[in-house]
Amino acid sequence: MSHEGSIITEGGTRILVPQLHSTHGPGKKIGPVFFNEQMSFNRDVSVMLLRALERDRIRVGDAMAATGSRSVRIANEVPGTEVVANDISAEAVEWIDANIELNGLSNCTSSKRDMHILFSESSFDYVDLDPFGSPMPFLQSAIRGCARKGILAVTATDMAPLAGAHAVKCRRRYQCEPIRGYMCHEGGLRILMCNVARELAKFDRGMRPLLSFFADHYYRTYVQIEEGANAADRTLAQLGYMEYDMDTLERSTSDVRDEKHPLGPFWLGPLHDRALLDRMSPEGMADERRCVKYLNLWRNELEDQVFVYDMSELSSHLKTSPPRIAEFVELLNQHGRASLTHFSPTEFMTDVPLGELKALFAEASPDSKL
Ligand SMILES: C[S@@+](CC[C@H](N)C(=O)[O-])C[C@H]1O[C@@H](n2cnc3c(N)ncnc32)[C@H](O)[C@@H]1O
Repeated sequence: MSHEGSIITEGGTRILVPQLHSTHGPGKKIGPVFFNEQMSFNRDVSVMLLRALERDRIRVGDAMAATGSRSVRIANEVPGTEVVANDISAEAVEWIDANIELNGLSNCTSSKRDMHILFSESSFDYVDLDPFGSPMPFLQSAIRGCARKGILAVTATDMAPLAGAHAVKCRRRYQCEPIRGYMCHEGGLRILMCNVARELAKFDRGMRPLLSFFADHYYRTYVQIEEGANAADRTLAQLGYMEYDMDTLERSTSDVRDEKHPLGPFWLGPLHDRALLDRMSPEGMADERRCVKYLNLWRNELEDQVFVYDMSELSSHLKTSPPRIAEFVELLNQHGRASLTHFSPTEFMTDVPLGELKALFAEASPDSKL
């Protein structure tokens, strides 16, 4: 290989990575081939999730493998996997081959194809789509590459459109109206999921989310594909619009777009499969502490609630200092159900009605004790 590399250990796997690589931030190739250290958590999650499926055999198609970091981790750390690590770049394939050899893997092969061609010819039980920026130009091919009842994992790093900072681009790419400000990351994730659902429906296929999250600079969703027109219709029935009234903080959803519900459409169903999360273990992961923290947050999130509240949103609305979030969530749990969320350390979910929520917040504020 013509470029310098160094060997790192991530989880239980050794990975040869370019000397010059990203340490954080969204996908941008800065060395000979793309590698981002910060995405080790993203790769940890793939390993934990695939292990938790507890299947004897999983054919994995890594559409855009770059150095093959995710592919070799899966092949090395998840029993029963047979991995195809694909990338369109000849240079990337050299790094993939080096990583397969470094780990002595007989269950991982490299492939130098355009992913559109790969998935028109071969299908897999698990397809991973991890492009630079938006997955939209590749989504349809990735779906074609999913075998019956396969699992599709999609990353999106184009946060500006999805989180509402660049609404025009979101309308164009995702045909959705994004949320700006409070709830923007939940909105971005649910727009991504809505687009996965709509694309699947074109093939008479539906989905059941296994795990969906926001972290660092990206959104990621893993969905279990369900086959048939009924599954597609059930999936589409979980899309909807929302309104946010900044004067009252009222959020309301609707299954039709009207003047009152201009935002979306969003996926309004659950983000995760609780049983699968319960089987996911952080043991041996590259960043065990971070995995434990996120697993706890995901497991406890209320699955039937959409659109989180932010402590500073309530605080500025009520013009009072916020209580401590952990104590406030505990208080809300005495009046209904509430949880912290993985989206932000200042956000929470609850089914306590808004009027009561505001009264409890004002009561719990340190200002009320002055
Ligand atoms: C963000 S990087 C992937 C990172 C990788 N999954 C990881 O975990 O390190 C995107 C990769 O997609 C590849 N790529 C771009 N277009 C492609 C296509 N049409 N088919 C296959 N690979 C493609 C690029 O060469 C690049 O290596």
